[in-house]
Amino acid sequence: MASVKEVNSHRIFKKNVVVIDVLRATSTIVTALANNAFSVIPVEHIEEARKIREDEKEGMILLGGEREAKIIDGFHFGNSPLSYMEDKVKDRKVVLTTTNGTRTIKACIGGENLYIASFLNVTAVIEKLIEYGKDIVIVCSGTDGQYSMDDALCAGMIISLINNMKNIITTDLGWTIKELYEAYKYDFHGLLKNCRHYKRLKENGFEEDLKYCLQTDIYDIVPIYREGSIQVLK
Ligand code: MLT
Repeated sequence: MASVKEVNSHRIFKKNVVVIDVLRATSTIVTALANNAFSVIPVEHIEEARKIREDEKEGMILLGGEREAKIIDGFHFGNSPLSYMEDKVKDRKVVLTTTNGTRTIKACIGGENLYIASFLNVTAVIEKLIEYGKDIVIVCSGTDGQYSMDDALCAGMIISLINNMKNIITTDLGWTIKELYEAYKYDFHGLLKNCRHYKRLKENGFEEDLKYCLQTDIYDIVPIYREGSIQVLK
């Protein structure tokens, strides 16, 4: 398991890389694709997102994202996964820019495969990781460059479930978060309620997002990043 600061090309070379940003970027990406968005294009900067929409002829592009958890001026959506439902996103390309999650995805390009995971699709991703059998680097997006327990909990779930199927080798941090997940698997909210990002979303009125993002396995899709965009792996 790594934080975004620890990612470099050597570390991810020929590895299966999994990016997690439970609250909320990867939960949003999974939701948009599960609701039949054509693709999600992660970008770092707001201006980059606007330019993609201006340059595109077919009118398929929607803009989504946040800064300080709030919708960006002129964008169609913020970063609430609950906005990305089928009636809005079906067959559309969503350009997404968020403070931490989309930056982390961009930082992780260069491994063998780059998967997008959240609690919402965690088992589907695990099954794919096992099927491909390569070494895995799990990258937790965190919040403003800091450790974030929601991501660690999801990474811990991945480690725990893979370890139930086959013996794994991981770091002490990997074992720690596996134990954390196993101790709190029936009480995610109880564990996270004092955490910074959880509290910030609650204070900003996103309680429904918290409930939604902490559900496990409501989708069985595996989003994969290839050549600039994220699509469902067929
Ligand atoms: C991010 O990428 O920084 C987060 O997803 C922020 C948020 O909760 O919207």
